[in-house]
Amino acid sequence: MQTIIAAQDRLPRRWCRQSITPPAKVSKDSVTMLKQDLEGENDAIARYSRRIRQAEELDLYHLAQQLRMILAMEQEHAMDLEQALGK
Ligand SMILES: [Fe+2]
Repeated sequence: MQTIIAAQDRLPRRWCRQSITPPAKVSKDSVTMLKQDLEGENDAIARYSRRIRQAEELDLYHLAQQLRMILAMEQEHAMDLEQALGK
């Protein structure tokens, strides 16, 4: 996280204006909740993947590496949710 904070001054302003967290979805049905969580994880995976490519385009390889570690965690979360949903 220190790397991400330190790199903020070098990031394009449009990155800082974009929302990091989409609005949360809610449901009382557990399967629907799991599906919503999986959708959120897949959205995060797509956004982190895009940010990694952008960081590398800016030669911010240290930031790209930090983002890769976060991406790996998000992919684990998605796999756990898929398993819970029987996929
Ligand atoms: Fe996650």
